[in-house]
Amino acid sequence: MSNRIPTSIVIFGASGDLTQRKLIPSFFNLFLKRKTPKNLNIVGYGWTPFTHEQFREHLHQGLMKYASYKFTDEEWSLFAPHLYYHQGKYDDQAGFEKLAVRLSTLEEGSANRLYYMAIPPSIFPATISNLNATQQLKENGGWRRVVVEKPFGTDLRSARELNIHLHKVLNEKQVYRIDHYLGKETVQNILFTRFANTIFEPLWNRNYIDSVQITVAEEVGVGHRGGYYDGVGVVRDMFQNHLLQLVTLAAMEPPASFNADALRNEKVKVLSAVQPVNGKSVAYNTVRAQYRGYRDEMDVKKDSTTPTYAALRLFINNWRWQGVPFYLRSGKNMTEKQTQIIIRFKEPPLAMFPLPPGNKMTANMLVLYLQPDEGVHLRFEAKAPDTVAETRSVDMEFHYAEAFGPTAIPEAYERLLLDALQGDAALFTRADEVEMAWSLIDPILKAWDTDQTPPLAEYEPGSWGPSEANALLSKDGRNWMHEEASHMLDD
Ligand code: BG6
Repeated sequence: MSNRIPTSIVIFGASGDLTQRKLIPSFFNLFLKRKTPKNLNIVGYGWTPFTHEQFREHLHQGLMKYASYKFTDEEWSLFAPHLYYHQGKYDDQAGFEKLAVRLSTLEEGSANRLYYMAIPPSIFPATISNLNATQQLKENGGWRRVVVEKPFGTDLRSARELNIHLHKVLNEKQVYRIDHYLGKETVQNILFTRFANTIFEPLWNRNYIDSVQITVAEEVGVGHRGGYYDGVGVVRDMFQNHLLQLVTLAAMEPPASFNADALRNEKVKVLSAVQPVNGKSVAYNTVRAQYRGYRDEMDVKKDSTTPTYAALRLFINNWRWQGVPFYLRSGKNMTEKQTQIIIRFKEPPLAMFPLPPGNKMTANMLVLYLQPDEGVHLRFEAKAPDTVAETRSVDMEFHYAEAFGPTAIPEAYERLLLDALQGDAALFTRADEVEMAWSLIDPILKAWDTDQTPPLAEYEPGSWGPSEANALLSKDGRNWMHEEASHMLDD
């Protein structure tokens, strides 16, 4: 299984958007940083009739739009000869037989192979079966790995079926289920903030933390993805994967090592300790909403009830988190792009400094800014100068761009693709993890289909979401803290 034998990366869905926008720009960067294996073939498989040259030109056009920096012709001309195209269908074994022949011709002997499924879930099973039937999953002197794009199923049942299907022909260690949030530097930095320091962890529990807010707000609407989005909605698109992943990283116990199984065991423990939101509790703990004008978007049904925004209140039933609410929200067409985790600490037990009537001590806040303006800010109270006992909130700030330079953060896919090539699955979701996440989401979606649902609310495009989401927190005596948090960022 050495690095000296060739490595072939086969991208299924090669003529699609993801390949041009994310995968090839990431492989290109890895190639230029000399991180890809020396003897490399990238073979695109797809429906569209392309010659190798046309495929290269299509990717070249994509790179000119999406590459993270202005590359030279020479850099492109070094990379381009590694790219090939193979036209074929997904449900037809003949196409796979021809692919096998093409790969053997390129590899001339044993080789490692990474199969990347940039295709809709409905065609994963046929693709996997055809790869297996044509002996392309057999490890004969080189490894075989499969990267599976999201969505991984549409509910618990379909995710289970998909896992069963994969496990018939692959072992779990060969399967890399992608959640691109885990490839983000700032998402990995949640673990580093918590476990590479000693000062936060002693406070990271119900004794000191009042509540946790996770916001993944997007400024964009559904754009040209209306057809896909209308069938899934915000909970399948964002909560089942990205937001629950953020919950696990913020809430997990420290694993004994940064190793795939140790890490994922702890994440699964968090998910299994989440108190299910189901039946009648769904109406109390969730909000769903659609932005005004969504039904006029391209490929969206005129009477669609698909939510483009959701808010959710969760509890984790373990010693660390008992009684601490986790408030999650995500939506399209909101005020601005803002992904953040706010840890709100408890207020001091005693207000020993006199406060103006009606004022409360301000709680400390640790804000992990995942994007944009990536960084970490800590808000605490200081004495206002030239007063007897007035306090003022002040911030300690870390910005990635300042500390590491403006271009320090690579594209999330770059890290994940490299990890898959190196056989490190720590930042990929394991079978039990993905199923556990669905088991938390399914009952919410089911209740939303019945009369126990909260009604579908509406919000203005460009707003912070519906007023119902404010009510979700105000019944607990809290409020969403984006304004205070963005104030910290602006200062
Ligand atoms: C994707 C969703 O997984 O994540 C999209 O399908 C969403 O709807 C995107 O826009 C958000 O990712 P990011 O990296 O822009 O926060």
